[in-house]
Amino acid sequence: MTKKSRPISVAAALAVFVGLAIAWSTGGLSLAQDSSKAKGSLDKVFPSSNKCKRCHERVFEEWEASPLSRSIHSPAFRASLDEYLAFAGSKDKALCLRCHAPHVNEFVDQVQVFVAQVQSGDPAIDGVGCTQCHLIKQVDRARHPPVPKYEPGKTLFGPYKDFVQNLAHQSLELDLFRKSDLCLNCHLSVPAAANLGKANDLLGGWESSKAIKAGKECQTCHMPEQVGESANGENKRKVANHTFPGRIGKLRQEAAKLEIETSVKGDQTKVTVKVQSLVPHNLPTTHPAWAKVVLDLAIKGKNLKTVFAEQRVYGRVFADAKGQKTSFDFMAVKVLEDTVLKPEETRVETFTFPTPKDTRSFDVEALLSYAPVTGPAAFLQRIEAESSKGAQDPVFQPIPIVKQAVNVPLQ
Ligand code: HEC
Ligand code: HEC
Ligand code: HEC
Ligand code: HEC
Ligand code: HEC
Repeated sequence: MTKKSRPISVAAALAVFVGLAIAWSTGGLSLAQDSSKAKGSLDKVFPSSNKCKRCHERVFEEWEASPLSRSIHSPAFRASLDEYLAFAGSKDKALCLRCHAPHVNEFVDQVQVFVAQVQSGDPAIDGVGCTQCHLIKQVDRARHPPVPKYEPGKTLFGPYKDFVQNLAHQSLELDLFRKSDLCLNCHLSVPAAANLGKANDLLGGWESSKAIKAGKECQTCHMPEQVGESANGENKRKVANHTFPGRIGKLRQEAAKLEIETSVKGDQTKVTVKVQSLVPHNLPTTHPAWAKVVLDLAIKGKNLKTVFAEQRVYGRVFADAKGQKTSFDFMAVKVLEDTVLKPEETRVETFTFPTPKDTRSFDVEALLSYAPVTGPAAFLQRIEAESSKGAQDPVFQPIPIVKQAVNVPLQ
């Protein structure tokens, strides 16, 4: 080092030090300064959700409890990603991550890093974290499925026009955040099943449902409005619940109504169950392909013993290129059977069975629930082996939606 250059490097070092000190005191957020991908590493461009927690504790805790925070963590996802990679060979390796860890779209050359993170079973990167949504500037609905346009930078997009300024990031109101469009790029259809075209529309004719025509957006039901602090210590205002109620949460109880009618004609009894879906889109959404909703009918006679039981299944049965049934939509080329409940559809199911004997009454019980995972034995065993809960992993448990029971007297 020469004498001449010394004052310059001291100044430079000082500048760096001051810069760091400012960055730290203003929240230590290191959002990239421009949209140049080459400049920032993965977590500079898409800082981890942990970085937002300090100021957005309420939102963070809600998000942490939501399925979105676990979008690349479940043993079921890990096992199916591997099935996909084995099947797809050299085709689009990023496909599953395009929605489950959508920042891969900005770092396609690093797809191996993402895959390795998933395979580790304990990823250090976010799946669908805060910035994976709040850096979306635009969603191109002209394309099917719609494509998000990220604008990485220090501005975070959100619903507020009248936001309070803060030192960590700039804010900008985008109407997109109050609109279904934001959600559609991941929820409309899975491109893996491209061969199926419209046949694997996940939501069905949602746009012509009564709820959507009445002005509801995905957020109305899945990010319900509440009053609270948007950032720690700020005034209470209208905020959006980030637990994303769906299979988890109370929203489930608003999914459907069941109505039971029974007619006893001597030895034969007929039960009709009216299943009225209140959901403005398909139920279930058929990704992953094993996703199913089932209606279980049970007749309980003397001593509450089950004397008759039958099931109806709502979902899609897919076939692969060899014509075999498959539990993986990425292998599907054809839909063999489609029984999903269409938006706000009412389905009437009829059951007939011998009238229970030796009893003065019997019970009719109807239960609608999300069914557990199904698939090849090796796939199920792998999920079980990899889950810290083994056979108790949530994916093996049914999730009740609604229940209805009546007691029918006999003369
Ligand atoms: C970047 C892609 C992406 C975007 C954008 C997105 N989601 Fe999702 N969403 C997912 C993924 C992936 C899952 C599944 C997470 C898991 O369980 O692995 C999911 C799960 C959900 C669930 C839970 C479903 C269940 O079965 O319980 C709800 C509800 C949901 N999202 C609603 C929304 C809403 C509302 C929006 C728009 C405000 C939205 N999502 C935007 C990718 C996305
Ligand atoms: C277009 C976006 C999109 C793509 C592409 C996509 N997924 Fe999903 N995935 C979702 C959404 C949204 C959900 C939540 C669905 C719901 O609950 O209705 C989900 C749920 C899942 C689940 C159940 C939840 C969990 O985490 O265990 C699995 C497993 C899964 N996806 C695997 C895959 C695999 C494997 C691929 C690649 C072949 C893939 N996904 C591609 C959007 C996508
Ligand atoms: C130093 C504290 C701080 C940190 C760190 C921080 N924020 Fe904020 N953020 C705020 C404050 C304050 C507001 C304004 C809240 C209000 O207006 O009620 C805000 C507002 C927002 C908004 C609403 C913007 C709008 O116009 O609708 C979003 C979205 C947001 N932050 C996302 C994030 C994300 C994502 C992170 C992490 C990458 C983050 N914030 C980190 C303090 C912070
Ligand atoms: C799946 C996309 C998605 C994810 C993931 C997500 N948000 Fe949001 N966020 C939204 C949408 C959409 C709104 C606006 C909802 C509305 O107003 O109807 C919103 C609103 C907000 C707001 C303003 C309202 C409020 O509730 O305070 C803040 C702040 C915010 N988000 C921060 C965050 C932070 C921090 C995280 C991560 C812990 C996060 N968001 C994760 C989509 C998302
Ligand atoms: C009028 C309220 C309402 C609106 C609007 C709405 N949903 Fe739903 N959604 C529900 C109900 C009710 C359920 C079923 C119960 C449950 O799982 O929460 C559901 C279920 C879901 C599920 C889980 C289904 C499954 O089979 O795993 C996803 C994912 C979902 N909705 C996404 C969306 C998206 C994306 C939009 C916007 C296009 C949307 N919803 C609009 C009420 C609504």
